[in-house]
Amino acid sequence: MSSSVKKQLYEALANADGKFLSGQALADIIGCSRTAIWKHIEELRKSGFELEAVRKKGYRLISKPDHLSDNEILFGLKTKTMGRKIYYFDCVESTQIIAHKAAREGAPEGTIVIAGEQTAGKGRMTRPWHSSKQKGIWMSMIIRPKLPPEKAPQFTLISAIACVRAIEEITGLEPHIKWPNDILYKGKKLTGILTELQGEADKVNFLVIGIGMNVNQRTEDFPENVKEIATSLEIETGLAVSKTKVIQKILTYFEKYYELYMEEGFAPLKIMWESYAAGIGKAIIARTLTGEISGVALGITDEGILKVEDKEGKVHHIYSADIEFPS
Ligand code: BTN
Repeated sequence: MSSSVKKQLYEALANADGKFLSGQALADIIGCSRTAIWKHIEELRKSGFELEAVRKKGYRLISKPDHLSDNEILFGLKTKTMGRKIYYFDCVESTQIIAHKAAREGAPEGTIVIAGEQTAGKGRMTRPWHSSKQKGIWMSMIIRPKLPPEKAPQFTLISAIACVRAIEEITGLEPHIKWPNDILYKGKKLTGILTELQGEADKVNFLVIGIGMNVNQRTEDFPENVKEIATSLEIETGLAVSKTKVIQKILTYFEKYYELYMEEGFAPLKIMWESYAAGIGKAIIARTLTGEISGVALGITDEGILKVEDKEGKVHHIYSADIEFPS
């Protein structure tokens, strides 16, 4: 079913405020047959909408696909390790904190911590991460790769590819990745990734990869200072999106790329990452802890480090920075 029919049908049912609309009324609104309406209703159900159908009354919308639970995520999940153990909470300070504790206490590889709401969500560089109730995916994944600690940042890039693939497949949108951890759609932030490491000088004990994805927010759900720079899947598609389905896809793709990485290293993922990257070949400003570098983004190294060429032709390797695209 085309997403515009799905959107029209959803809007008609949502505007009915929980009242029944007959198959004929819906067919008139959409401009198709009653049999086609029935098929479209089934499609909406598959996307996670709860709809009631009663003979002689028609259809009514019971809920949008935005309620999360561990059982729903497990149902239909076909991964081997990712998400096989799920801790779900309605409200926590930060899923990162819970995941670190669970990992210290021995939570297995692939464990995920998810919350409906975070009261103190953490972003990169100790920035707050706004995580409103049931509107987004607030998830931390625990993995235990046998690797030296310097490889940890590559997992931010691998997670970003998994998120982009999931978004593309579920919504048809084509977002971009801004190095190292932002997923943008038309320049606005859809998703942020925070990779935290617990390890020793020569080995990773575990990584906690936090993913914050804006899914069903409307513009008014964002705080004033975020409205201009953030967007959500619902804002961009005009449709509520099933968080469960997006999570399942993220876990599936992440597992696939994690396995590929452990077998073949970062090289195949680098190619994939660059195909989604925003700003390669363009002017950028990289703000690092030690200063600012302006130049042209050349891409990333085989280790996932950003390469920027300045006016004098010197190529800088950037390990950590905030990136800006000057207009
Ligand atoms: C960023 O863009 O700065 C990274 C944001 C990461 C947010 C996620 S939401 C789930 C997990 N729990 C947190 O407290 N932060 C990460």
